[in-house]
Amino acid sequence: LWPVESGGLRPDTLWEIDPHLPAQLREIVAAAADIGDAACLLVAQSGDRHVHLDPLVVTKGETTTWCSFGELVLDRDEVTTVPGMAGVPVQGPYGLRAALLLSHKTSTNLPAADLLLRTQAARLEAILARSATTLTSIEQTAATLLAMLAAHEPETVHHARRVRRLSRPLGLAAGLKSRALWELELAALLHDVGKISIARSVLKKAGPLSVRDWVQMRQHPSVGERIVRTMPALEVLCAPIRHHHERWDGEGYPDRLRRDAIPLGARLLALADTYEVLRTGRLYRTPLSREEALAEIQANAGAQLDPNLIDLLPPLGESSADWS
Ligand SMILES: [Fe+2]
Repeated sequence: LWPVESGGLRPDTLWEIDPHLPAQLREIVAAAADIGDAACLLVAQSGDRHVHLDPLVVTKGETTTWCSFGELVLDRDEVTTVPGMAGVPVQGPYGLRAALLLSHKTSTNLPAADLLLRTQAARLEAILARSATTLTSIEQTAATLLAMLAAHEPETVHHARRVRRLSRPLGLAAGLKSRALWELELAALLHDVGKISIARSVLKKAGPLSVRDWVQMRQHPSVGERIVRTMPALEVLCAPIRHHHERWDGEGYPDRLRRDAIPLGARLLALADTYEVLRTGRLYRTPLSREEALAEIQANAGAQLDPNLIDLLPPLGESSADWS
């Protein structure tokens, strides 16, 4: 499931997802700069064929100069020195490649630059590996919870995966970045995890729910919140999970929050959740076309859904695979 299915955890976004990483990287680049005059950490953003280098941290100097030297270092894949510059390749998790470079006055001889750069590169690799391990363990925890839910009721997990696929472009359109986007995707995957407490007979009921069923059903957001709260790494998901059935007009559950008092993540989840249900249908309601679903969403704007967010839905790319 993870990280293969994750849109968020890619090598080039590792430092955006891990809040501790940027400061640690800056500290290492500053230490490298102390060896010479300036230093730079370049990261290889690999497309299909081309390797494009992006400066992650630069103490000073021309980006183009750093980049062309960085390419040389990555090409050679070993400690490289040219007059005035020295560089070392860095190997990170998930195939991440980077280059730690420093520049110095051409007149200065830096006999120990090799060793010092290697030391900093080793520190970098250790930090990147630790960061990836932390993020992976969070994702594995989420995957374990989902596997438990799937054992109880597989369709809820299929639904959650489709909501996750919608949540990323929706979050991007709402201006969320890196860490917030990653959290939204995780929350989308786990938003209904509390349904593990609901009887299968209720979840699979081929008709309207009874009052008694609804009492059970309405507990799933708070049950889900209690489940993720037991895991410190997932605590940040508590709010979007607890509040994904709140309504813009304050008539939702469990806390009857209104409007902006509902966390943004929960409002985005509500939108993705509602759209997914309309598009795929349920035992007692037929699937709607994209146009019909959007019309229904429009009709719910300002009542159930945040009217300021619904316009973010139409540009979403949809392939038939999204609904498999
Ligand atoms: Fe739900």
